[in-house]
Amino acid sequence: MRWNYISAPAKERPRKKSEGVGMNWLAFIALAFLSSFIFSAAYAHAQDTKKGEMKKFYQVNCARCHGADGSATGEDGKKLKGEDFNDPKWQKNTDDEKMIKVILKGKFFGLAMPGYEELITREDAKLIVTEIIRKSEKGKIIAP
Ligand code: HEC
Repeated sequence: MRWNYISAPAKERPRKKSEGVGMNWLAFIALAFLSSFIFSAAYAHAQDTKKGEMKKFYQVNCARCHGADGSATGEDGKKLKGEDFNDPKWQKNTDDEKMIKVILKGKFFGLAMPGYEELITREDAKLIVTEIIRKSEKGKIIAP
């Protein structure tokens, strides 16, 4: 009996006063959904822009040691003695946190590698690790 009541067409149901409000809720939900979609699209766009910025940042600040493609074949790259970002084996033996720390703090008191914490945020450093270093490929120049 109860099921019949629920699935009966709206016309046959006794109308409650509040039923007109239903549409408003629907509009509200639609709007909330739409704005969250717009927000996430804007966020994704901001992330893309940030990624491009960080790639530029890499070329300006890191490429002279780590190479344009991350393979450490740049001018000063030989000093690195085999820190090849493109090497899957090397990638496995390090982790994101360790890399972020080196990018921010540098290596050997900034003598082997300067720290960049005054120029970029932790989020930026993380983006460099996950979007640039982790995705680097031999011969593929890191550029926006
Ligand atoms: C003056 C040269 C130089 C510059 C410039 C430089 N690095 Fe380095 N980088 C090094 C050296 C040297 C090491 C350490 C190699 C070792 O441990 O044997 C290193 C190590 C690293 C590591 C490895 C950390 C780990 O897991 O052991 C990362 C990641 C890194 N650098 C990222 C960067 C980024 C990103 C930039 C630019 C923002 C940068 N480096 C700029 C020289 C440099």
